[in-house]
Amino acid sequence: MTETQGPRMIPEPYKIKMVERVRLLPRAQRERAIKEAGHNTFLLRSEDVFIDLLTDSGTNAMTDTQWSAMLQADEAYAGARSYYRFVEAAQEVYGYRYVLPVHQGRAAEHILSQILIKPGDIVPGNMYFTTTRLHQELAGGVFVDVIIKEAHDPGSEHPFKGNLDLGKLAAAVEKAGSHRVPYVAVGAPVNMAGGQPVSMENLRQVSAFCRSAKIPLVLDAARAVENAWFIKEREPGYADKSLKAILREMCALTDAAAMSAKKDAYANIGGFLAVNDEGLYREAQNLCVVYEGLHTYGGLSGRDLEALARGFLESVETDEWMAHRIAQVRYLWSRLDDAYVPLVRPCGGHAVFLDAKAILPHLSQEELPAQSLCAALYAQSGVRAMERGIVSAGRDAKTGENHKPALELVRLALPRRVYTQTHLDYVADGVIETARQGNSVPGLKFVYEPKYLRFFQARFDPVVRSLAAARR
Ligand code: F0G
Repeated sequence: MTETQGPRMIPEPYKIKMVERVRLLPRAQRERAIKEAGHNTFLLRSEDVFIDLLTDSGTNAMTDTQWSAMLQADEAYAGARSYYRFVEAAQEVYGYRYVLPVHQGRAAEHILSQILIKPGDIVPGNMYFTTTRLHQELAGGVFVDVIIKEAHDPGSEHPFKGNLDLGKLAAAVEKAGSHRVPYVAVGAPVNMAGGQPVSMENLRQVSAFCRSAKIPLVLDAARAVENAWFIKEREPGYADKSLKAILREMCALTDAAAMSAKKDAYANIGGFLAVNDEGLYREAQNLCVVYEGLHTYGGLSGRDLEALARGFLESVETDEWMAHRIAQVRYLWSRLDDAYVPLVRPCGGHAVFLDAKAILPHLSQEELPAQSLCAALYAQSGVRAMERGIVSAGRDAKTGENHKPALELVRLALPRRVYTQTHLDYVADGVIETARQGNSVPGLKFVYEPKYLRFFQARFDPVVRSLAAARR
């Protein structure tokens, strides 16, 4: 264990004013529920879930100030007061010149990809994200992974496993020609690598490279405040800086940002596309009206815009929110690590990632170990997690072959301000027990596979192996 990963919990920097009942179904009912859901946790009813760690996206508990701001919303179709508050708050926190509201992150990805990518272009980035890559592909582009090799190794303790490999980036640009690279995409932190951060030093180098090659650098800002936390903690020279200052420094190294505001901004829906270039902003505004709604609401109600505006400001008004969030993730991580459950190391930002390959070594990747582990964890404990392995990786757009990611993970994502330490202890016990019984978990096979983002809606059946095959 590194010295930054002690299991010490800090008290919640909030008290609870409203609660929502949850219940644990009996085991037989959980088994029926996951079977009816085609062994896909996305297809469970949330009512049947005891502790929901499917995602930290849009599942946040808002502050009383966010709720009260919603009552003052201006619901005008055009030019609402709430729109201006949203834009000003996003500009203050992130620092980009132009901010276009959209209904969530993938809408920003869609608009950006449609404007910038031409068929045959390549988009280098630090590990794919599901919706991001799909929008790049739908626009005719090809994603090229230029993350450092340590990111693909769950055991590597590299402190900034999200970093881009400058050599790989330069080689990809050289091979395609810079005119075929509409932008470089940097996710900070990197969700699919285990919530692993990018260092400021790396961002600076990538930014310098992009500026000299005249290629825009686009930040995936969904959890950029989390990334700022890791910079503050791990990178020399940042310990005394506020998250707000670090975030602004990160953004200033980039030219644009696609933002899913369902994460860091403590809201339930929303996002933005932020750019510094006026021409790009005009084009984005124009596509917004086609796909999202008028550019002054972008598919969001005035109430949403108000909650988001407050959420942006509050996300960096004090470092305490993030200190508590990271401490919660580390607490769960440490409990599992102490019990020798194989995990992605070091502990990342928004979630704990289980190494399903190591937990279910009897399954081949084609038998979908992470999907199988998710289903088994739900049956065991009523805890809902998400597959982040071969199912999420999908198929190669050209060849139709399955992508085979090195990482075969189950993600336990922590919604912000929603669960207590006792909940986390319950989750840890459930995971430990599921891992202990790992060798009895059957593999799964697809029985329904949708064309796009298959992990959301696919259905599976258990693989029944012959006794002889099981013995091999
Ligand atoms: N980028 C990152 C890094 C994300 O994690 C997500 C969503 C998006 C973009 C897309 O944003 O959902 O608002 O359209 N991540 C969710 C998750 C779905 O569970 O990690 P969106």
